[in-house]
Amino acid sequence: MGHSDPVINVEARQNFWMPFSPNKEFKAEPRMFVRGEGMYLYKPNGDKVIDASAGLFCVAAGHCRPEIAQAVFEQLSTLDYTMPFTRAHPKAFELAEQIASYTPADLNRIFFCCSGSESVDSAMKIALAYHRVRGQGHRQLFVSRERAYHGVNMGGVALSGMVNNRRAFGPGMAGVYHMRHTALPENKFVRGQPEKGAELAEDLLRICNLVGGENIAAVFVEPAAGSFGCLPPPQGYLNRLREICDQQGILLVFDEVITGWGRMGAAFGAQKFGVNPDILTMAKAVTNASQPLGAVAVRQDVYDTITNSGPEKGIEFFHGYTYSAHPASCAAGLAMMDIFRKEQLIERAAAMSDYFLDGIFSLKDIPGLVDIRGVGMMAAIELAPGATPGARGHEAQKALYDANLNLKATGDSIIFGPPFIAEKHHIDEIINKTRSVLTAMSKK
Ligand SMILES: Cc1ncc(COP(=O)(O)O)c(C=O)c1O
Repeated sequence: MGHSDPVINVEARQNFWMPFSPNKEFKAEPRMFVRGEGMYLYKPNGDKVIDASAGLFCVAAGHCRPEIAQAVFEQLSTLDYTMPFTRAHPKAFELAEQIASYTPADLNRIFFCCSGSESVDSAMKIALAYHRVRGQGHRQLFVSRERAYHGVNMGGVALSGMVNNRRAFGPGMAGVYHMRHTALPENKFVRGQPEKGAELAEDLLRICNLVGGENIAAVFVEPAAGSFGCLPPPQGYLNRLREICDQQGILLVFDEVITGWGRMGAAFGAQKFGVNPDILTMAKAVTNASQPLGAVAVRQDVYDTITNSGPEKGIEFFHGYTYSAHPASCAAGLAMMDIFRKEQLIERAAAMSDYFLDGIFSLKDIPGLVDIRGVGMMAAIELAPGATPGARGHEAQKALYDANLNLKATGDSIIFGPPFIAEKHHIDEIINKTRSVLTAMSKK
């Protein structure tokens, strides 16, 4: 290894400002990966680490898929880039068509961007533009929910309901109201959708009565909150939100950046929970995380309304990114669509969900757990807090890495969301390693 290798040289670790990370701790005590394959990541010393959260819930088909690498290589060798404004390349249209064959109802118009955060801010703009061209430009307000995560751009920060992601940045954007979260004390250790809590949707009506429903552009919710630590929606909750939005002329947006593409055991949370939004955001898993790509799926008539109100030959929607529908991302997305079809990945996720959730809920007896939640191929174990909020979760995440298991932690919850190629023995490995690490921690 060279002198400037950050694996061995502390100085070589200093320039990179790591996102959402304890920089000082990591740089003194790095926990890195140098290779990935299938269900596993590899440490610099060669140790094989099972990826229990599919990276950040995005590597649905397992690491380093050769089909995707080849497709990206071929694309970059043929047409590396074309500007996406007023010009295009065929794969953007092909990918949009394929995505639209999975999205619910008539959400068949696909706007591309580069990340989940961008998909959220794009969806906010689409909602505002839609109302404006219909003469309802007074609809400027948004509603979201406590404990939500909608990315890190300023619109998304304003929508988000996680204190650490907001407190340093001000309101992000004025005019956002938050409904109550759905984590009720009586729903602890409930598997799947809790029976109690549908009435929490009435909070939307409360906000409508406070600010005037006719002033609200859109309601954003994750069908099941992901980043906070897996909060499945109470039964009937999303249906009630849908009803209120319809009564009030408000657009319902599902942020499916995590719940989309099989994570819930259906193509999207919309299908899993039987409620269709008007706009749906997505990003993770579309390219198996091999290339950055996000997208917004929009009801056809929303697209038509905006597009038909524009000039005959002029731009209709003044929004887009230099890397929207990047050729390499679209090539990766198309290769991933092939994998979804050929390997029936979404069906596999649905078929493995029970075994996975059985395993996760079997850990209930470990001392020091305050909750377990799970739906589809996503679950969270919440640990009793330590000296400061989040300290136990962070400690667990480090100890699990040291025991050769990788996952995401938020606060004191550790979050599981394995790739859909997981076999039963992989799930067993995840459960066994988690049991031994959490048991050891409970004895300290
Ligand atoms: C529901 C939701 N929305 C938006 C985002 C932001 O996505 P990105 O990190 O790709 O910007 C995330 C990321 O976890 C997410 O879970």
